[in-house]
Amino acid sequence: MLDSSISGRRPLIFPATEETIRQAAERLAAGELIGMPTETVYGLAANAWDRTAVAKIFAAKSRPATNPLIVHLAGSERLSDALQWPPPPVIRQQIDALADLWPGPLTIVGPRGPKIPDEVTAGKTTVAVRIPAHPVARRLLQACPFPLAAPSANRSTYISPTLAEHVCDASGLGHAVALVIDGGPCAHGVESTILLLGDHPRLLRPGSITAEQLAERLQVAVEELQRQPPAGDSNRDALLAPGMLREHYAPATPLVLLPLAGDRDAAPPAGPNIGRIAFQRLAPHEAARYRRVETLSDNGDLEAVARHLFAALRRLDAAGLRAIHCDTCSPQGLGQAIMDRLRRAAARTE
Ligand code: TXA
Ligand code: MG
Repeated sequence: MLDSSISGRRPLIFPATEETIRQAAERLAAGELIGMPTETVYGLAANAWDRTAVAKIFAAKSRPATNPLIVHLAGSERLSDALQWPPPPVIRQQIDALADLWPGPLTIVGPRGPKIPDEVTAGKTTVAVRIPAHPVARRLLQACPFPLAAPSANRSTYISPTLAEHVCDASGLGHAVALVIDGGPCAHGVESTILLLGDHPRLLRPGSITAEQLAERLQVAVEELQRQPPAGDSNRDALLAPGMLREHYAPATPLVLLPLAGDRDAAPPAGPNIGRIAFQRLAPHEAARYRRVETLSDNGDLEAVARHLFAALRRLDAAGLRAIHCDTCSPQGLGQAIMDRLRRAAARTE
């Protein structure tokens, strides 16, 4: 048995064995919270059908009750556990058109089914749903007869966790979870892409499934997916989800975004109290100008940049620096998700 006593020394992180997954499913059924690996970031999971358990998520994260949660499912055969079923034909067609992207880092927002309590959706008539690809998340979801509501397992507005240790570190949620299943480092490192389905599909949050991939499958223009709806449009409410507020994912240390390479004359000066996040290896004389450098990839590969970004931000945030200077990239493809997160993280500093 895992020890459930309240003790600071209680071990919380467990390897992803069948036994751990079985015990996690038991804890979830009993209304407790679990730290769950996914391919994007670690989630703070609760039984999505249990409103008392879901309320614990909001309390643990200090998350505003107005910010709805994503419901995680074991497979598309369980969409009716969360969505209105059958959904309107246009949404059914869109789900079919996107089928090859699931399981994976894509969340869809569609009409909410009757089993999902108000607490999950913040009273909205829509619900956000995703089928994660991480093998441990899949095994856990298959072991549960209910879907899992799971936001990223960080305090509200702090950086999302991409390692099991992040869930329980000094700024984390160790006090709130029965256990964390260690599924290793998250492969993508940025949260899932969120897409609002319907007559006017909209990208609500960029992620590693790109706007271009979605536009191709839905047969709409990329610009159409990105368009902000006018006041009075029925989509406006969904788009103005509180989770889309500007300041989010922020380190406590001021974050300064560097101009794109080529315009480096405009860069703020480095210094002995400054940390640097580099998207690729720096020349030694450049690296020497900073107290600490975190290198996210050898050659600027954006998949590696996304995978390593949040852990690097957390390490530098814990290093007592005056500021963190961070590289940027052009906001296309996966670069859109990276720049979205960086702009939010830097919003307080800008
Ligand atoms: O990759 C991910 O999506 C991770 C992992 C754990 O699955 N989860 C995650 O959850 O990032 P969270 O709670 O940190 O972000 C969920 C976002 C919020 O911005 C929220 O406002 C939005 O989804 N959201 C949830 N339900 C919505 C709805 N019905 N309409 C519009 N936005 C919604
Ligand atoms: Mg989050």
